[in-house]
Amino acid sequence: CCQLYREKILAGQHWVITAGPTREAIDPVRYISNHSSGKMGYAIARAAVNVGARVTLISGPANLAPPQGCQTIQVNSALEMHQQAMALAPEADIFVACAAVADYRLADVATQKIKKTADEMVLNLVKNPDIVADVSALTERPFTVGFAAETQDVEQYARGKLSRKKLDLIAANDVSRAGQGFNSENNALTVFSADSATEIPLADKQQVAGQLVTIINQAYQAKSSP
Ligand code: CTP
Ligand code: CA
Repeated sequence: CCQLYREKILAGQHWVITAGPTREAIDPVRYISNHSSGKMGYAIARAAVNVGARVTLISGPANLAPPQGCQTIQVNSALEMHQQAMALAPEADIFVACAAVADYRLADVATQKIKKTADEMVLNLVKNPDIVADVSALTERPFTVGFAAETQDVEQYARGKLSRKKLDLIAANDVSRAGQGFNSENNALTVFSADSATEIPLADKQQVAGQLVTIINQAYQAKSSP
């Protein structure tokens, strides 16, 4: 009985999840990016599908097969990810921002390949929009969950982001610890709300994703029927 029940706990819910890195073009052949593999976001998408959610995954360039049973939208830049998120989030019940969005993009993208003439060069960068903060500020606002990958003072920085971005939950990981987080197979998270902290111990990212989906759903249910 319980297995059947568990399989459908998210039935009727629409989850929108961002995952992977973004690429910020410098010129037609070059870009700025980061080491995010996309594995955690893809694992969350699979875990949510497995328990009955309708899932839309907005993915930056990741070398991963699109998870079965969910709609995957591929994007490159932070601006493209922002546009898709703002279009999809108003219809979502739950929004999970797992993407490692580039904080800055080129002020001007060169239309032709930049030639190696100057001895030094400076790239002029401007700040990208904060996708999860903009989703959280919508009037038709989904239950909003962020991530915080930190190398120090994890709880303090994570709680700062929780309140500044007006999130319902934030999943923090300490990427200074070996074997967890960026480009790793395993992860360990602490999930903070305004008044709680829940540990998910170090495990395979798919197992961590399963636990995180359960924690998110419990907090979502508690908020929608207090
Ligand atoms: N995020 C986002 N859009 C951005 C930057 C970040 O949606 N332009 C989201 C991430 O997906 C994550 C959360 O915000 O859910 C925290 O990202 P992080 O990079 O840790 O926070 P920043 O606010 O960018 O702060 P900093 O990089 O200075 O730590
Ligand atoms: Ca950032």
